[in-house]
Amino acid sequence: MKRRTVVVGLTAAAAVPAVGLGSGVAQAATPSAGTDSALVFDPTAYTELTTSITDTAGTAHDVTYHFYKVTSYVANPVDVTYQGLNVSVPVSVDGTAVDATHAPILMANNVGGYMPSSVASATGVGGGGGAGGPGGPGGPGGPGGGDSGPNRTQLALLAGYVVVEPGARGRTLVGSDGVYYGCAPAAIVDLKAAVRYVKFNRGLIPGDVDRIVTAGTSAGGALSALLGSSGDSPLYAEELAALGAADTSDAVFASGDWCPITDLEHSDMSYEWCWGGNPLADGTTVDATVSADLKAQFTGYLAELRLTAPGFGRLTDRNLDAYLVKTHLQPSATAYLAALSDTDRDTYLAANTFIAWDGTNATFSWADFLTHVGARKKNAPAFDAFDLSTPECNEFGTGTTAVRHFTLYSLRHAEGDSARLDGDIPKKLDQMNAMYHVAERVNPNRARHWWIRLGTKDSDTSLTVAANLAARLKNLGDDVDIKYYWDAGHGADEDPGDFITWIGEVTSHRRQSRRRS
Ligand code: DHB
Repeated sequence: MKRRTVVVGLTAAAAVPAVGLGSGVAQAATPSAGTDSALVFDPTAYTELTTSITDTAGTAHDVTYHFYKVTSYVANPVDVTYQGLNVSVPVSVDGTAVDATHAPILMANNVGGYMPSSVASATGVGGGGGAGGPGGPGGPGGPGGGDSGPNRTQLALLAGYVVVEPGARGRTLVGSDGVYYGCAPAAIVDLKAAVRYVKFNRGLIPGDVDRIVTAGTSAGGALSALLGSSGDSPLYAEELAALGAADTSDAVFASGDWCPITDLEHSDMSYEWCWGGNPLADGTTVDATVSADLKAQFTGYLAELRLTAPGFGRLTDRNLDAYLVKTHLQPSATAYLAALSDTDRDTYLAANTFIAWDGTNATFSWADFLTHVGARKKNAPAFDAFDLSTPECNEFGTGTTAVRHFTLYSLRHAEGDSARLDGDIPKKLDQMNAMYHVAERVNPNRARHWWIRLGTKDSDTSLTVAANLAARLKNLGDDVDIKYYWDAGHGADEDPGDFITWIGEVTSHRRQSRRRS
């Protein structure tokens, strides 16, 4: 059952003379002029494109689609390079017409590394680029659209879904006045404005605006999770109003999150709880005192979360390792091994003797698993580095200040025990944290369907981040599909086709196609 706590504004279809697509009829009431009227989607302004998309079985299909470029999804953009979006609407697959009028909408962001991401120069679906994406400067690794196979936006189009790809400001953007204009909460405010734009254009934009499914990887996964958890939260009202975002809901239906780098204010703690005993890539170890301090903080945080899981009761720092092993890691290894040929499985098991394989299930200990993963990617503290060198310190920059501490621990390490976080930081942390909206405040307008994925060798953040998000959502009664990809690293997407199938299931979408007459 959907509940709303905000007053939802007019939609574009009601705000402008009907153009024959929507059910909306022009009303006497007008939206705030100059704002909403600038945000009306033009259903006729597309380019028709045809592309070849290979499905997960390796078969190529000719997909014809309408490609729309929306210059800005807000009325008062700060930088249209980043605040635009592209819409791709399938019209035929292999010559068979597809009617996407009521199809789910995949809203796929391309953010990596909390860097700016633009779709302005993209000339077709999937053409956007995050500056922190693969090969981009400054980003600690970009989102993967799917290992070597087809990516999720292409597969969505092939499945008959509408694909919306928004850009968003990111942490490195700095104006000629020296002011950083893409630091927190810019990226999430932009993505919410993009959701609002789509929902405002109900009846004009193809697709079912009540079935928006978000997707993103890493920082983009965190933002996707945040879109899912923070729908209609009043916490962003001021920033959305300043941008001239459409006056409507920003709640989404479902959220797909690959290796989400979320819960940043607790990530130094959770990182040490998870990877604290692992060496760095150069074989050295991190500062043991710092690691121990942070790990101890995690115990308290976990207690506050009051998570429970079947077979474990309350999750604490004493059973969380067993929980991870049993609930996520062993099933991941089991699925991996079961899919191998007998010869490949034997070879893998001979090289990884820490795994006991009984012919059906893989079992191993947490300690052996950690040894198997090997080097940790980040030093301690992993996110709020003492020297302010981490991307997240830049994410919490402000004004002409490029980098700031956002945890008391690192701040006090730098400035002494009486130092206090800048006054704006706590709100920005909440604005950026998916967990805030499901744990500290439980948002009734959150998405109820969640797809969460993480590689077991991804030490960009703690393995607990995805697991705790999933556990919390399950505790709230939400529908959560979580899997860890065995031995996969950062940014992996090993089952993009399953995600597309899942979207169809959770949205109850039955593909509507008709033969050309
Ligand atoms: C990303 C990776 C990180 O290690 C991080 O701290 C933030 C973002 C990313 O790939 O998006």
